[in-house]
Amino acid sequence: MKTEVIILAAGQGSRMQSALPKVLHKLAGRPLVQHVIDRVRKLGDSLIHVVVGHGAEQVKEQLADANVQFALQSEQKGTGHAVAQALDNVADDSRVLILYGDVPLTRPETMAELLALVNEQQIGLLTVNLEDPTGYGRIIRDQHGKVLAIVEQKDANPKQLAIREGNSGILALPANLLKSWLPQLKNNNAQGEYYLTDVIEMAVAHGVNVAPLQAACEQEVQGVNNRIQLSTLERWHQAQQAEQLMLAGCTLLDPARVDVRGELTTGRDITIDINVIFEGEVTLADNVHIGPNCLIRNATIGAGAVIEANSVIDSALVGAQCSVGPFARLRPGTELAAQAKVGNFVETKKAKIGEGSKLSHLSYIGDAEVGAGVNVGAGTITCNYDGVNKFKTTIGDGAFIGSNTALVAPVNVGARATTAAGSTISKDVAEQQLSVARAKQRNINGWQRPQKKD
Ligand code: UD1
Ligand code: CA
Repeated sequence: MKTEVIILAAGQGSRMQSALPKVLHKLAGRPLVQHVIDRVRKLGDSLIHVVVGHGAEQVKEQLADANVQFALQSEQKGTGHAVAQALDNVADDSRVLILYGDVPLTRPETMAELLALVNEQQIGLLTVNLEDPTGYGRIIRDQHGKVLAIVEQKDANPKQLAIREGNSGILALPANLLKSWLPQLKNNNAQGEYYLTDVIEMAVAHGVNVAPLQAACEQEVQGVNNRIQLSTLERWHQAQQAEQLMLAGCTLLDPARVDVRGELTTGRDITIDINVIFEGEVTLADNVHIGPNCLIRNATIGAGAVIEANSVIDSALVGAQCSVGPFARLRPGTELAAQAKVGNFVETKKAKIGEGSKLSHLSYIGDAEVGAGVNVGAGTITCNYDGVNKFKTTIGDGAFIGSNTALVAPVNVGARATTAAGSTISKDVAEQQLSVARAKQRNINGWQRPQKKD
């Protein structure tokens, strides 16, 4: 049977106290509902329906590239009603997996296990054993352990409230059964809603077996209702990722102070100091060392490179054995060849820096191509922008750029050329030339300093 997935994301989430729809709040840098979609995609390609309501336009806009279908639930009349809104577009011969846009961390393995339980005579229900089941629907079983029904917290009697097995809300069942049962739902309950959970009793009444699957841990079925729960799940998720990194060969000086908001791929014998944030797709090769307080986004760091404290690396390539920072900022389009050095208070942007070249201190190098073995002195600036257009600077292999050189682009400095300290270079310098472009020094004898007037 083909799988189709329905993700409920129409609820208001009023406890978030936010103008943003709940499912768009971020966990590990991605909207909650995006996590659900990404995890479903790991199962293979199934058709995904997202039921939107509150903030529908915002949710649709955010998911414009997610390749999902939308169904609109304009009034929130309960989970059963929400699922019904998507059903017209679901094939009769498929099996349906129902997920929630505010439950971000369900494991794909669990989804697959649940789907494997589904056949014409059986549906799969994900349950969870809880220390404190407050707020959850309770799973009612008979004396043989057979699931009979789900009773919502607000409709439960004291004996039912004592049950610790909660309904995750996640279930999988054949589309044709769902289509025959949903129109029969009634809203004569404490909340006046059409409960999806009532299909469990219908299944039992029709002789369809309800196969329970227990979640591996509470967090994989946990929903987000307020910002405290959001932060709790964030920390749990980060702790899980930190464990994976350590098991893969990274030393984390404090696993509680590394955040991964995206995909981090790592080699072995990497050391990551405290307060480091990785965003987007980042790859660290073997023996990389990352100092404290670094932000690294969409970057590849080569083997043995050292990123020192307080550096920001964004959309850049750092070659093997490079040294970056402390306090360096590599902006998009920076490419450092092997053994290059970018030191403190240096900013680079769209800059290719050749092998072994050094930008040791206090420079801005943008729209530039710098050869190998170049020394760029402190305070060197590429003047790449005239207020309207950007221009390029090229510096040949082995050149020596004196301290405080202003390179007024477009300009080329040839291989092994030298610029004198304090020069403003606005014309090309040929190979091996020395260019001095600064006012000549005058020394005046017997100079009288100004006197204070009374
Ligand atoms: C639901 C389950 C409960 C389960 C709990 C797990 C029902 C009746 N109850 O209760 O058994 O233990 O989840 O967290 O299903 N939604 C819509 N449209 C609606 C109503 C809800 O899209 O009309 C969405 C919400 O945005 C949310 C999800 O469905 O993502 C669950 O709804 P919620 O009202 O939170 O259900 P609970 O009362 O928590
Ligand atoms: Ca809920």
